Amino acid sequence: MRVIRVSDYEELSLRSADLIASLIILKPDCVLGLATGGTPLGTYRDLIRLYREGRIDFSQVSSVNLDEYRGLKPDDPHSYRYFMDQNLFQNINIDPAHTFVPDGCESDPASACSKYDAIIDRFPLIDLQLLGLGGDGHIGFNEPSDCFIRRTHCVTLKEETIRANSRFFQDKAEVPHQAYTMGIADIMKASRILMIVSGSSKAAILRQVLEGPVTPAVPASVLHLHRNCTVIADEDALQCCDRLCKDSQFILP
Ligand code: PGA
Repeated sequence: MRVIRVSDYEELSLRSADLIASLIILKPDCVLGLATGGTPLGTYRDLIRLYREGRIDFSQVSSVNLDEYRGLKPDDPHSYRYFMDQNLFQNINIDPAHTFVPDGCESDPASACSKYDAIIDRFPLIDLQLLGLGGDGHIGFNEPSDCFIRRTHCVTLKEETIRANSRFFQDKAEVPHQAYTMGIADIMKASRILMIVSGSSKAAILRQVLEGPVTPAVPASVLHLHRNCTVIADEDALQCCDRLCKDSQFILP
């Protein structure tokens, strides 16, 4: 696991957008695994800028998103489909037919999950999976558990996740309690993983991820087992990692 230490959120966003842009330039028909939440917003803003400057072309890119709230329609402003449309897809030249988000409206969870697995299986691989880090260590909506769940599943969100995500809603009571998420095996099958972590609210959990054992109680810890995982984290997020050296880049064994 390679950790890149950056000064702040702006630098994090720039570095992560540059990494994704480099992949698109080298492999124009790449498959991106994309994430929602507050952290990727700056990355998407910078990717839109690079697109507008004519430096990247999304016309052959496909995307597969990590998760979606159960029960929300695609045009619900709180759905992750809506988030992606507003914050990235409608601002670049990606083919909407090549963008995939789990179907939150599918009433049968088993069917919703198997349909999303079938979409993931259409791609030989995900070239780069972008991840945020949940305050409880989740990636996608893979919440702390006693086992890693391999494929797409319906998850009941932890109280901490509902509280954290309530900032995007008028009222905490509006936050859906369930979601569909890509499983850990599919995340781990990506050729490259890029996790971005910003802010002091993530400092304690990032320390557990980077310095603690690999355990499904801290789902992101599984990334230690990936052969090509980069974490970009800012000073605030790394403030508890005092056992790690202060270099701008370091490799964890
Ligand atoms: P955030 O969420 O980027 O809004 O902090 C990260 C996550 O829950 O994956």
